[in-house]
Amino acid sequence: MLVGVPREIVEGEHRVAVVPETVKKIVERGLDVVVEAGAGEGSHHADDAYAAAGARVESSAESVLSDSDIVLKVQPPAESPAIGRHEVDAMKSGGLLVSFLFAPGGAAEVARRLRDRGVTAFAMELMPRITRAQSMDALSSMSNIAGYKAVLIAAAALPRYFPMLMTAAGTITPARVLVIGAGVAGLQAIATAKRLGAVVEAYDVRPVVKEQVESLGGRFVQLEVETGDAEGAGGYAKEQTAETQERIRKLLFDHIRKSDVVITTALVPGKPAPRIVETDALAAMRSGSVIVDLAAEQGGNCELTRAGETVVEHGVTIIGPRNLPSSMSVHASQLYSRNVSTFLFHLVNKDGELALDLDDELTRAPLVTRNGEVLHEPTRQLLDDATRNQE
Ligand code: NAI
Repeated sequence: MLVGVPREIVEGEHRVAVVPETVKKIVERGLDVVVEAGAGEGSHHADDAYAAAGARVESSAESVLSDSDIVLKVQPPAESPAIGRHEVDAMKSGGLLVSFLFAPGGAAEVARRLRDRGVTAFAMELMPRITRAQSMDALSSMSNIAGYKAVLIAAAALPRYFPMLMTAAGTITPARVLVIGAGVAGLQAIATAKRLGAVVEAYDVRPVVKEQVESLGGRFVQLEVETGDAEGAGGYAKEQTAETQERIRKLLFDHIRKSDVVITTALVPGKPAPRIVETDALAAMRSGSVIVDLAAEQGGNCELTRAGETVVEHGVTIIGPRNLPSSMSVHASQLYSRNVSTFLFHLVNKDGELALDLDDELTRAPLVTRNGEVLHEPTRQLLDDATRNQE
């Protein structure tokens, strides 16, 4: 069986799905590997390193996609200028794909193509958050990077020190950082900001994170608001009612106003990002303050965020980065490669043959398409609605 690793085609994507170290492990498992020439360029892995690890390096993107029984990718398949058509259309009918599949806006379009092409596709975003799947949890690997990088970006943009300094010229007070959303990215942001010496506080609708925030040296912001049973399936947050959301915004106003840096990471799966920082709160911040909105691609937690841009409003710099993991392509690729290959090894038996156990949650949960059907319920609904609207 042949495992293919194409070069990523989305602009600004520097990661690769499989690094040479992982190629070796896949080959040891009895599978063959073909890597598109230059696939590792953005993450500083030369073609020679792939060849030395046991992969065949192939210059044609078309051949990598059409020859492979299993394709491993980072970004959802897209229209490819290199092959003059959509990547899915070049894939083997009956083949298998493991990749992130949910671009902002959902996976409906790509799922329709995968279904029609007869590809069995697994979405890395849908990996269940259970102990057994932790080593395959690419969302956590990438969120960790985003949380870390967000703080570095904020520190670089802030016209102040992060740490407290006692110098001959006087004492510098430490920066105050507020992290909104203390999931994987938020917790890493708290840890990173603490390491840089800032005074850190954090808020999340899930009260269970209080201890985690405190264990990292942050102060948990306790708001007088009832978020009820805020934790839904898989540890993710549930959407709050409009009234609760309004109350959160009101109560956070003072915390935002007093912060030099606000890092927002609040997300609810399948929904637009909750709006938490409105213009009035932002305008109350000190001139020179910085907001880094990690939810930018999902619509933003801050009213004035523009995805992929940096804007200055009311003296506050608002940064809405896209695809931060790609900016740390070496470690992002290394971690993703381990996540994706661990999942691959879960799908194949000792002899390197596919052995899908659809009764296993770990195999079933990330499955989006199979045998010409869309199996991910919300995506199937979206497609059905779209078909009905066309009729
Ligand atoms: P996420 O990226 O979907 O959301 C980020 C954070 O935003 C979450 O902590 C969420 O509670 C918070 N949030 C949502 N709406 C908000 C609002 N209106 N105001 C303030 N905060 C809001 O979540 P992420 O980071 O991917 O993971 C969430 C949780 O999943 C983790 O904290 C953990 O409990 C669980 N998890 C479990 C794993 C496992 O057991 N294998 C692995 C990774 C995460």
